[in-house]
Amino acid sequence: MAISLFAKNKKGILNRCRDDYATKMRLKYAPYYHAMEFQKDTTVRLGGRDMIMLSSNDYLGLSFHPKVIEASTAATRKWGTSTNGARSSNGSRRFHLELEEKLAAFLGREACHVHAAGYLACMTSIASFAQKGDIIYADKNIHSCLWDGILLSKATVERFSHNSPEDLRDILAATGGSDAPKMLVVEGVYSMEGHIARLPEITAVAEDRGCFTVLDDAHGFGVLGRQGRGTVDHFGLNDKVDVICGSLSKSLASTGGFVAASRDVIEYMRTQSRQTIFSAAISPTQAACAQASLAIMQSEPEHLERLWSNTKKYRKILHDLGLDTWGSETPAVPIVLGSKERVYTFWKALLEKGVFTVMSIAPAVPVGKDLIRTAISAMHTDEQLDKIGDAMAYALKRL
Ligand SMILES: Cc1ncc(COP(=O)(O)O)c(C=O)c1O
Repeated sequence: MAISLFAKNKKGILNRCRDDYATKMRLKYAPYYHAMEFQKDTTVRLGGRDMIMLSSNDYLGLSFHPKVIEASTAATRKWGTSTNGARSSNGSRRFHLELEEKLAAFLGREACHVHAAGYLACMTSIASFAQKGDIIYADKNIHSCLWDGILLSKATVERFSHNSPEDLRDILAATGGSDAPKMLVVEGVYSMEGHIARLPEITAVAEDRGCFTVLDDAHGFGVLGRQGRGTVDHFGLNDKVDVICGSLSKSLASTGGFVAASRDVIEYMRTQSRQTIFSAAISPTQAACAQASLAIMQSEPEHLERLWSNTKKYRKILHDLGLDTWGSETPAVPIVLGSKERVYTFWKALLEKGVFTVMSIAPAVPVGKDLIRTAISAMHTDEQLDKIGDAMAYALKRL
C-alpha cells in the first residue's frame, strides 16, 4: 500500500515534466537553447548560416580580445582547469585574492568576493544579510536571482513600482515605522528595460528609513561611470550603497559574479552565507579573463567609447522606424511588441535576415510588454549596424 502511494507521488512529478514536454512538442517552434556552431566577435553560425549576434551581453566586446585569450590560456597552463573546491576549504588561490583586490579598488570598496556565477553572487548578496523579521523593499522589475535571494532570506518583502522613488516613499511611510532592519534592493541598469535606476532619489528616500542598500549592477558595470565603474559611480553615490553585486559574464568577458562592500560586510558573508561557503571557487581561466578585462577597461577607453557611439546609432535606427524601445537609456535595448505572436513573427523575420536576438515573453516581462531583447556591443561594425537596420525594417513589414 505504502509503496504504491510513493510510486504515485513520483509519477506526479514525472507527469508534470511529461505534460510540459508534450506542450513544447505541440508548439511548432523552439526559440530557445540554440547551439551555435561557430562564433567570432559578433558573428555566430547557426544552421550553417552566419548571423549577427544582437543579444549578447559582451558589451565591451572583450571576449575575443587577444590579451584576454592570452590571460586565459596562461592561467590554465599555470593553475590547471579547476579549483575543485570551495574558497572556504581547498579552493582559494592567490589569483582570487588579486582579482578581488582589483575589483574592490576599482569600485572604491574595501573588499570584494567572487563567486562562480553572477546569479549566485547577487542571490547571496540578499540571502547572506537579510533574515526573517527584516523588511526588504524591492523594485518590482528586479532580476530573478534577486527574488530568489529574497525568498531564501525569509524576510518580509514590499514591492514598489518600477524605478519609482515616489511609490517607495509611500510604501515606506505605510510599512517602515517599526525598528525591523530594512533592506533596499534595486538594479543599476535594468536588464530587460535598459533603464538606469533613479538612484539619487531612491537612495535618498531609503536613507531616511535607514535601509541597507543592495544594488545589482550586472548591466551597469563596464557600461556607465568612469572607465565603466558602474551606476553608483555614474551618479557619484558611493557612500549611499552598501553592497554592489554583479556579473563577470557581461563586460568582463568571463563567467562568475562579484560582491563588493566594506570589509566587515564581506567577512560576514564569507562566514555566514551557505552559497558562499559551500560552492566551488571560480576557475583559473574565469578569474584570469575577468582580471585581464578589468585592466583593459582602464587602459583602452576606446571600447567604452565605441559601445556608446554604436548604441546611439542603433537607437536612432529603431526610433526612425517608430519601434518602441521602452525608454531604454543604455546598450540593453528592448523592442516592445506587446504580444507573444508579434514577438515571434518579428524574431523569426530577423532570423531570416541573419540577425540573432532573444524573445522575452510574459511572465519573464510584464503582461503586454512582450519584447525582443537586443544588446549592442562595442564590436558591432558600421556595416553590421546597417544590416541590422535593414533587417528591422523587414521585420516590421512582416508584422
Ligand atoms: C540583473 C542581472 N543580475 C544577475 C544576473 C546573473 O548573472 P550571470 O548570468 O552571470 O549568472 C543577470 C544575468 O543575466 C542579470 O541580468
